[in-house]
Amino acid sequence: MKVPKGKGEQVRKKLLEGDLLDISLKVRREGDLILFPVTSEAAASFGYQLEEGEFEERELAETDYKDLVEVPDDLRPLLPTSFDVVGDVAIIKIPDELLPYKGRIGLALREAFPRLTTVAMDKGVKGELRVRDLEVIAGGPGTETMHTEFGVKLLVDPAKTYFNPRLSNERFRVAKLVQQGEVVIDMFAGVGPFSIMIAMHASPEAVYAIDLNQDAVEYLRLNVYLNRALSVRPIQGDAREEIGELPQADRIIMNLPHSAREFLGDALAHLRPGGTVHLYQICERGEVESLAKDILGDADKAGFRVSLARLEELKTYSPSMSVYALDLLLLERR
Ligand SMILES: C[S@@+](CC[C@H](N)C(=O)[O-])C[C@H]1O[C@@H](n2cnc3c(N)ncnc32)[C@H](O)[C@@H]1O
Repeated sequence: MKVPKGKGEQVRKKLLEGDLLDISLKVRREGDLILFPVTSEAAASFGYQLEEGEFEERELAETDYKDLVEVPDDLRPLLPTSFDVVGDVAIIKIPDELLPYKGRIGLALREAFPRLTTVAMDKGVKGELRVRDLEVIAGGPGTETMHTEFGVKLLVDPAKTYFNPRLSNERFRVAKLVQQGEVVIDMFAGVGPFSIMIAMHASPEAVYAIDLNQDAVEYLRLNVYLNRALSVRPIQGDAREEIGELPQADRIIMNLPHSAREFLGDALAHLRPGGTVHLYQICERGEVESLAKDILGDADKAGFRVSLARLEELKTYSPSMSVYALDLLLLERR
């Protein structure tokens, strides 16, 4: 598409927003014109001349996004160096000083990472349902996307339900521990990443997947269907109440790192002796040993003899806190 030089930047942004710029090719200049490689004749709606032409391939390293953002030099060191990717949606935290430039950051990310269709700014996780407050800053308009991990397809809208792509290795580890015919309860299942991973990579008898968030359970049902993960039984409701209706389990997953501990008694009451709870808990880094001791002590007082089979730091949560995985083995009920 041939565009007069003065209009170049404005048109480039509009093309990017409309997914009409072929970012794998280099933009060219010809006299007073800028030649944009466009992806579709739909670009004709901009009112500029379209013609066939040759363009050079463009190589971009993943780190190049910073070179593409126009921000004042003193703010450049504040540009985020990492972000999460869920499907084709990037989720990025932006410091307050850079908020006036959030649109530019979004566009630069899309330009540098052609597989991203949407960039959303992360304004924090809120409430009991742990839903992320997201604002689309490039692409969009929505944030629904298809994420794939270890061959499991997960349709998810990170603005409506919690999903963390960084736990995929942990989910796969847990799935590999599941023995044939196990009954598994996933108390805080979200859109089903643990449950479906287990159904796809092991042979459980049933995986009961509970979540309070109606949107999460709708996606969970779709994901069960998408993956034909027929051993997964989605349940919408409060895990504490719903677990009472379920058969005794061989394994219980408790991924609610702020408050899972409060549900541990209910979980242990529904676990067969010899069974395992996978508990995820946020904790100050220096205090994890005493946290584990307290958890075992609380269980003991409630009549459950439990041993800690494994304790691992999974990811950092804040400068001083991390998310830990605790595998708890139920030895006996008194
Ligand atoms: C940290 S997320 C984990 C989701 C999922 N396991 C994953 O790995 O993506 C916690 C989930 O627990 C759900 N939740 C919170 N309180 C609950 C409760 N009382 N009963 C059932 N689910 C609950 C939230 O809706 C949220 O989806």
